[in-house]
Amino acid sequence: MATELNRFSKTLTQEVTNPAAQAMLYGIGLKEEDFVKPQIGIASTGYEGNPCNMHLNGLSVYVKQGVTANDMVGLIFNTIGVSDGMTNGNDGMRYSLPSRDIIADSIETVVAAQWYDGVIAVVGCDKNMPGAIMAMARLDRPAIMVYGGTIRSGHYKGQKLDIVSAFEALGKKFANNISDEDYKGVIQNSIPGQGACGGMYTANTMASSIEAMGLSLPFSSSYPATHEGKQEECKKIGAAMKKLLELNITPKDIITKKSLENALTVVMALGGSTNAALHYLAIARAADIPLTLDDIQVISDRTPFIADLKPSGKYFMEDILAIGGVPAVTKYLYSKGLIHGDCITVTGKTVAENLAEAPDLNFETQKMVFPIETPIKQTGHIQVLYGNLAPEGSVAKITGKEGLTFDGEAKVCEHESEIIEMLAKGEIKAGHVVVIRNAGPKGGPGMSEMLKPTSAVMGAGLGDKIALITDGRFSGGTHGFVVGHITPEAFDGGPIALVKDGDRISIDANTRVLTLHISDEEMAARKAAWVQPAPRFTKGMLGRYIRTVKSASEGCVTDEA
Ligand code: FES
Repeated sequence: MATELNRFSKTLTQEVTNPAAQAMLYGIGLKEEDFVKPQIGIASTGYEGNPCNMHLNGLSVYVKQGVTANDMVGLIFNTIGVSDGMTNGNDGMRYSLPSRDIIADSIETVVAAQWYDGVIAVVGCDKNMPGAIMAMARLDRPAIMVYGGTIRSGHYKGQKLDIVSAFEALGKKFANNISDEDYKGVIQNSIPGQGACGGMYTANTMASSIEAMGLSLPFSSSYPATHEGKQEECKKIGAAMKKLLELNITPKDIITKKSLENALTVVMALGGSTNAALHYLAIARAADIPLTLDDIQVISDRTPFIADLKPSGKYFMEDILAIGGVPAVTKYLYSKGLIHGDCITVTGKTVAENLAEAPDLNFETQKMVFPIETPIKQTGHIQVLYGNLAPEGSVAKITGKEGLTFDGEAKVCEHESEIIEMLAKGEIKAGHVVVIRNAGPKGGPGMSEMLKPTSAVMGAGLGDKIALITDGRFSGGTHGFVVGHITPEAFDGGPIALVKDGDRISIDANTRVLTLHISDEEMAARKAAWVQPAPRFTKGMLGRYIRTVKSASEGCVTDEA
């Protein structure tokens, strides 16, 4: 074994000054011949508590087999992961976005402290993936991500279901549109087992776009969690890692401005989650690549939205494999000049070389992805809005199905739970612009997702009749007229803190302007009277998060001064 493949681990395994480390390595079962092999950290976010992560420890065992078979030492470790689907709508959601940075910190810590030569991350839920990629960028040692895979759809009374079905059932319950039996039936059958939430929500968005960026093997995002291809992928990872070590291809070779553009192009084409904006800003910063909200807008402007996937469309992620998977879609985008082909990937080949082996989309037989000449929307659905309500930017999801402008009367919620109460009391009416504030990275803290409010609004039949704006985030499962990531956030005295019930607010996706229709003098007077709220936490992880987190327009990173 050439020593350069173990250029980090040899510090522990070879140097005479490290007898304790060597004793411990014998203690965990390494044999004499193992001491010259590269050591690969296998980071799993597996745990039993949610469907997205429940199978990841099992997949990690297959990964380890592949690593061992390729003459390397694989060492599985765990990091945390929380399920957005289980924290949403309660105070647990405060921990969701911060968990991304804990995952990044954890993987960075173990791999750097233990001197691993490479890292393979086996991840499933929304924050797992950007957290793992941020760690890979910081470490800059050969790295590959393995996605746990999407869930299969659930079924009830002939209808296909997913996690959003459960939230929407609540809205129907509020509107007396569902029987108690059917409500229970939907809840019991929405989630049939392991895998990440099944539409083009945040997990599938990040998995698809990270694959396009080149940090996972082709088809990683397309195999459902229970598909045999997922296990096969895990077993193949060892050979791929060996090649990366031999070629010394590291994440900073793979994460470039061009590959970030490829990732964002796939996000736009597939109609992915607005959270991708936040996460790619953070990934770019971890890789020391300048990327701004305006760069994301440029990609959106040049990329047609072509995939009829949930949440706004018909199909589930499990359906995409049958039409050739994400590689087929990326190959099509490449053929149209929308993807950079010369970026290097974890296969050791370029994007173009990988795509040469991908299937072609057949527009005669499949109706899930449209030709770019007849797209769902001519440009991307993720729009960056500025204006006097968002001087440092905001991120909207505008598919066009809900229109391109909205003008209405403000209805202010100081906490996302208030909208649920208001809906139940019938206080939210057509024409309202619901403002959910104090939900930002510092104010929340943790920048909660609004899946429960938006799904409840949909279920109540108000989805196309109201708009929702917030300094928090939206789940990838969100659809409707929504603007999030408003900066500066209310906690920092941003204009969203100054809105009052009854104010007129307009959202214009054509001009990309979010306007609070009050005079500059009135705005200044309200600002002068504004008092910063006390932080909701001063100690513990959330207290530290409030003190360290950057704004949503800066990716909510926590490791910068
Ligand atoms: Fe984990 Fe949806 S809650 S992917």
